[in-house]
Amino acid sequence: MTLVELAKEGFTNLTGVDYSQKAIDLARMVLNDNNLSNVKIEICNILDNTLPHDFKVVHDKGTYDAISLNPENPMEKRQKYIENIYRILLPRGYFVLTSCNWTKEELLKHFASHFELDSQLPTDMFQFGGQTGNTVTQLIFRKK
Ligand SMILES: C[S@@+](CC[C@H](N)C(=O)[O-])C[C@H]1O[C@@H](n2cnc3c(N)ncnc32)[C@H](O)[C@@H]1O
Repeated sequence: MTLVELAKEGFTNLTGVDYSQKAIDLARMVLNDNNLSNVKIEICNILDNTLPHDFKVVHDKGTYDAISLNPENPMEKRQKYIENIYRILLPRGYFVLTSCNWTKEELLKHFASHFELDSQLPTDMFQFGGQTGNTVTQLIFRKK
């Protein structure tokens, strides 16, 4: 779990969010097993603008993908998501996005209005039918 690894590396002031009670309960269990009582876990729909607007870094692993797969108004929801991530970040804050569903080029287009690319994190490559690609796309964006 990313929060556990970050806390073990010495990062502080960490908060994890998900809108699913089951995901929150599981995260609490993993944090308790690792004696990490100082990591905050909150139930929150990222499409509602309820989080404080003071994050230095936001990392999303799979939530943008899940929102993109929503059968009801996915484009509208993706736009809301982008605006809310932008709002909760401090000026020039970093947004780390891990996606299994979108390519780098697609993500750059989606986020171009609010974020600029800082760098791409290395991930495993695949080869299929003469093509190569990344199994997962991990981009570090900076708030414009
Ligand atoms: C692919 S899972 C990834 C879970 C976790 N981030 C991880 O890396 O193991 C996607 C998660 O996004 C959550 N999710 C989907 N839409 C959400 C929303 N609008 N607000 C908050 N969480 C959401 C789901 O409940 C699910 O736990």
